[in-house]
Amino acid sequence: MDDERKRCVIRFLPAERQVEIEAGEMTLLDATLRAGLPIASACGSEGACARCGLEIVAGGESLEPESERERRIKARNRIDERQRLACRVRPTGDLTVRASYW
Ligand code: FES
Repeated sequence: MDDERKRCVIRFLPAERQVEIEAGEMTLLDATLRAGLPIASACGSEGACARCGLEIVAGGESLEPESERERRIKARNRIDERQRLACRVRPTGDLTVRASYW
């Protein structure tokens, strides 16, 4: 049996950076920090501030569906529905994301 965990490549646009992580190893927010890119957070990754919203460009189907709470926080903070809260999702497949400030 192959007990190696699946690897995922997370690509960051337009910075043209990428990191490789183990599936489910860390949140998208932590993967962003590992890539050496800044990401806003005002709630300590508690899923409350919506500052960490990133646009999902490709691979979003591998992310767990939005929870009701994430949907509510995004709506309250007028976050575009193409974005996910990076502190709330743990990538389990290849993913491409974008932030205007990279
Ligand atoms: S860091 Fe606050 S919602 Fe993600």
